[in-house]
Amino acid sequence: MSSQSPRKISVSEILRRKREHVKIVAITAYDYPTSLLADRSGVDIILVGDSGGMVVLGYQDTRPVSVDEMLMMAKAVSRGGRRALLVGDMPFMSYQAGLEEAIRNAGRFIKEAGMDAVKIEGGREFAPTVRALSRVGIPVMAHIGFTPQTTPTLEGYRVQGKTVEETAKLVEDAVSLAEAGAFSLVLEMTTVEAAKAITEAVPIPTIGIGGGPFSDGQILVLHDVLGLFERFTPKFVKRYLSLSGEILKALQTYRDDVLNGQFPGEEHSFHMDIAEVEKLQLRARRPN
Ligand code: KIV
Repeated sequence: MSSQSPRKISVSEILRRKREHVKIVAITAYDYPTSLLADRSGVDIILVGDSGGMVVLGYQDTRPVSVDEMLMMAKAVSRGGRRALLVGDMPFMSYQAGLEEAIRNAGRFIKEAGMDAVKIEGGREFAPTVRALSRVGIPVMAHIGFTPQTTPTLEGYRVQGKTVEETAKLVEDAVSLAEAGAFSLVLEMTTVEAAKAITEAVPIPTIGIGGGPFSDGQILVLHDVLGLFERFTPKFVKRYLSLSGEILKALQTYRDDVLNGQFPGEEHSFHMDIAEVEKLQLRARRPN
């Protein structure tokens, strides 16, 4: 295996992909081993999503996860991801209260956690935040359509861009975020038609999740792809593995092996030298 570092994917390479009509592949990761594997698989972007609050930390939704919890996951991911562009998801209320707080928290993702960029959710109302972060040199991935930090409370779990009017609003949001300096745009759970209209309207790449095939790239949540999150599976997910079942089988076999004396075996055990074993036996026979 080569010890040379693979060439790091840059923000400008992600932008170039759109111009050259080459699809962008993104996946989430939340820890070191899956970051290593995602990086080795050749994906372009690894997002440390706030979905980690649900699929790793067990929260009911993405809103409770804190900046410190996100940073811990991001640090682990940055130790594994050497080639992919690493994006840290800013959790709910880490960028909404003001520009200064947004810059400070985003800065922690870059300085402390080794991320290359951050992601924030929201439409044109967050254009000033995108502008402020871009100005200090922090690349921003924006996220519109279904935004898990707020849409479920405001509208419920609802596909976005179902009408021409709704799509026009999404296009305006996208244009305003692109003009503010966002380098890419996640489009979550939109109609195919809305995703296509947005993708055609902006010069930056769109990364779809549940928006059909016309986005410039695709992203999925790792635990959905691997079948490791069983609470629910959205319609737009393609599951490539049923890891929960495999893990369960392995753990049940381990438990049975211990109960039946099948584990540990000779091959898992260490021994003293024979001379030491003899000394031990002599000592055991000696009267007290
Ligand atoms: O947190 C996350 O995993 C995300 C993706 C759904 C894009 O925001």
